[in-house]
Amino acid sequence: MPLIITDTLDALEKLKTTYSSHSTPERLAFVPTMGNLHAGHLNLVKLAAEQADRVVVSLFVNRLQFAPHEDFDRYPRTQEEDIRALESLKLTIPITVFAPSEHTLYPNTQSFRIQPDPMADTLEGSFRPKFFEGVCTVVLKLFNIVKPTHVVFGKKDRQQLTLIKQMISQFALPIILIEGETLRDSDGLALSSRNRYLSQNEKMQASQLYQQLCTTAHQLRHNNSAPCPESFQALEQEAVAALISKGWQVDYIAIRDQPSLAGYPAERSTPMIILAAAKLGNTRLIDNIEV
Ligand code: PAF
Repeated sequence: MPLIITDTLDALEKLKTTYSSHSTPERLAFVPTMGNLHAGHLNLVKLAAEQADRVVVSLFVNRLQFAPHEDFDRYPRTQEEDIRALESLKLTIPITVFAPSEHTLYPNTQSFRIQPDPMADTLEGSFRPKFFEGVCTVVLKLFNIVKPTHVVFGKKDRQQLTLIKQMISQFALPIILIEGETLRDSDGLALSSRNRYLSQNEKMQASQLYQQLCTTAHQLRHNNSAPCPESFQALEQEAVAALISKGWQVDYIAIRDQPSLAGYPAERSTPMIILAAAKLGNTRLIDNIEV
């Protein structure tokens, strides 16, 4: 099927009427992205296509989720390559690429914003204030424009996925969220648009983050002591120290309750997750592992 590319709301609306002549309600799966697509994104698009009659992929670098010191201007914009990558999937259902300009999405200053759950101020939020306010605001706006029945978010950005799930539930949005697994290089490095900033040497070192998560997960699985904040903190600190000794600047390694991410797990049987963010040179990577 040919790819349809649109950058205006009108064109997107017209496409909807073109495709919604089905007798059964159309399943429209939406994959929001900031572009610079890699195999991880393409995997999400394939997952979307398995669940739907039509897929919309948005490419939009959302200024609202970047702090003034962050890499908004440096963020790679690679629309032509992204379109080629989507075409290479050769999906049999129609894919629409929605690549709005800033003026299309924010014709006026976006003064109304989503205030997410306080969990948004922890982990990523403690290093990137207002990040999830910006993410949730653009995602809700995109949901209102695209009107999907299904949306696909990757598990790599676990805190984002969790908050979007809560937003869908608390605002009773009629949308099914599909979770995409994290794709990794053969050495374990999670695929990310930011990997392209890594030097050759850093690339070789970058899988240490995932290896450390695996080590901490192993320790957690074999830890027979009763769960308490002190024992979790000790494991977190050990992991941080191990990465620092290898030259990383660590923002956090955090053991959290699943699915809330709101605090330490209360019981041994509670599903757990370990989340991490750390910098190698100038490149900040995030990852997580379920325990
Ligand atoms: O995960 C991303 O790429 C972005 O945070 C998203 C969901 C597209 C919102 O800008």
